[in-house]
Amino acid sequence: MLRIAVLGAGRIANIHAANVAAHPHAQLVLVADPWREGVNALSAQLGCEAAYDCAAVLGRTDIDAVVIGTPTDTHIDLMLAAVAQGKAVLCEKPIDLDIAKARAAVQAVEQQHGRVMLGFNRRFDPDILHLRAALDGGHIGAVRQVIITSRDPSLAPRDYLAHSGGILRDMTIHDLDMARHLLGEEPCEVSAIASRLVDPTLEQIDDYDSVMVMLRTASGKQCHINCCREAVYGYDQRVEVSGALGVLLTDNHRPSTVRHWSAKHTEALEPLQHFFLERYADAYRNELAQFIDALAAGRALPTTVRDGLYALYLADCALESVRTGRAVAVDYDL
Ligand SMILES: NC(=O)c1ccc[n+]([C@@H]2O[C@H](COP(=O)([O-])OP(=O)(O)OC[C@H]3O[C@@H](n4cnc5c(N)ncnc54)[C@H](O)[C@@H]3O)[C@@H](O)[C@H]2O)c1
Repeated sequence: MLRIAVLGAGRIANIHAANVAAHPHAQLVLVADPWREGVNALSAQLGCEAAYDCAAVLGRTDIDAVVIGTPTDTHIDLMLAAVAQGKAVLCEKPIDLDIAKARAAVQAVEQQHGRVMLGFNRRFDPDILHLRAALDGGHIGAVRQVIITSRDPSLAPRDYLAHSGGILRDMTIHDLDMARHLLGEEPCEVSAIASRLVDPTLEQIDDYDSVMVMLRTASGKQCHINCCREAVYGYDQRVEVSGALGVLLTDNHRPSTVRHWSAKHTEALEPLQHFFLERYADAYRNELAQFIDALAAGRALPTTVRDGLYALYLADCALESVRTGRAVAVDYDL
């Protein structure tokens, strides 16, 4: 049994805590969050201890691993403190919003041989696991182009956006990681454009709501990411990978497969209703299961802090391209 503490009692920590509690080889020892009402409710629901100081629980000897689901600006401090105490860590994305701080943290983790996995949950989505297996099986031959569509159903609250680090570091970072995961080769050049098509007042917080990013690898493989904070028809998550022998496509999940044919239309379907908590429920479960399995088997974790650093760096390169209007060379000398 891996004894786990979940740090945070907000949206994502609720998911992780429930998944830990349900895992047959894990024990949810406690949930911790300064928000007493939230953490008390979560601990009562899942039958574990509640704690109010996240850092204070890291020294406990009855905890083997922690899941960090607290705000982004707390990730690195909690991660480093957990590693120093010999705990394994599953940390939510993004690793941080500051590349220099993230670089120093990655070096510290690596020097201490810390076991830290970054929560890029989409890699563990069943569709993406199948897609990746088909690529590995050579089903479409050599990868040529990757197209990623990622649109949220609606704009997040202003307060969230103001502290998010911007669309590229907060939202597109998932897609940048997905691009690295699927291209099979690191990007060497990034170009991007960004607009405020949903809410022009985002200029006040120096952010955008619609971005397109293009990546190129050294051998010429290409990736196009289109990302928007609003899609009135629902959460739009699609991936297309084309190769020498064919194409692999993932589609959106729908509440049902019922199709509506009438005098007016023949292919009307219900709106896409999911947002990330529902759409990626299996992905969060698989992510945790792979974390636990890798630790039990003494295997390398499937994602690392370096994945977090590289994705953040690509987001920064894309932002630089938006601001300069030029393609930016990727130099992973981090
Ligand atoms: N992988 C994903 O799909 C995904 C989805 C959502 C959020 N996230 C990430 O998870 C993290 C949390 O996001 P969320 O949406 O759950 O946020 P949230 O606001 O719902 O929850 C954050 C929790 O952290 C607590 N908190 C606040 N300050 C704290 C501090 N100093 N120390 C410890 N806890 C503190 C708050 O009380 C709150 O309960 C963010 O980094 C976000 O980027 C990832």
